[in-house]
Amino acid sequence: MKKLLLILLILSSYGFSAGENNCGSLEKCDAFSSNVHDLYSLQRGLGIYMNYCASCHTLKLLRWNRLQKDLVIPENIITEELIRTPDTKIADHMTFGMPDVSPIGAPDLTLRTRVRGDEWIYTYLRTFYEDPSQTSGSNNLVYVGTAMPNVLAGLQGNQALDTGGTLVSISEGSMTAEEFDDSMKDLVNFLAYAAEPARITREKNGVFVILFFIVFTAVMNLLYREYAKELK
Ligand code: HEC
Repeated sequence: MKKLLLILLILSSYGFSAGENNCGSLEKCDAFSSNVHDLYSLQRGLGIYMNYCASCHTLKLLRWNRLQKDLVIPENIITEELIRTPDTKIADHMTFGMPDVSPIGAPDLTLRTRVRGDEWIYTYLRTFYEDPSQTSGSNNLVYVGTAMPNVLAGLQGNQALDTGGTLVSISEGSMTAEEFDDSMKDLVNFLAYAAEPARITREKNGVFVILFFIVFTAVMNLLYREYAKELK
């Protein structure tokens, strides 16, 4: 019993440390948990990625043909519209002809949702604000001093910090705040998919595996009762 309690204590402290504040200057990140089963969301996320992120960040562990299959995209759209580098084949990784880390230091994003967590990235993408003291002209509440420029300002509009340190909108973008948040959810869903394409089938199969165990346990229990009768 004591051992069990000790194990529970160790596990719970691990749980707490994983949930510790790691959201930069914010007390905690905005809640968001990725969903890789909404195909349209993944496709919209890919669209935003191609338009706003692919010029700096590679996805070096994801292949174009895997993306094509999982996101149900016609092959000619991939080869004619999405692959923009001449020598790239559909079986190649999505590096967009760039090195792993771009000249200005943008890292590969394939595994970033695994490293940072969905909530961190979701909050990061929405908390850029104008800051003339930075070379990029903007700063971020989650990743203070980030070298990444605010590439989403056209969609979100510009934000600034008021005297109390809260974000306020100072100009409108092409999206409303809700539309922008939804788009960022699509984008993080897409990044979470990129980090583990097999998650789509893994989570679907998981339900069947658990159902199987429930049925199996029930059948074994009945069998055990039959045996137990004989033993009496
Ligand atoms: C103009 C180039 C550029 C574009 C476009 C760009 N980024 Fe970045 N991004 C960077 C740079 C540079 C960094 C590194 C920041 C640092 O470490 O200070 C970065 C960092 C990040 C990080 C943090 C990585 C980490 O864990 O440290 C994430 C997440 C990210 N970018 C996501 C995106 C997404 C999503 C898009 C598309 C909406 C995007 N970026 C578009 C340049 C860019």
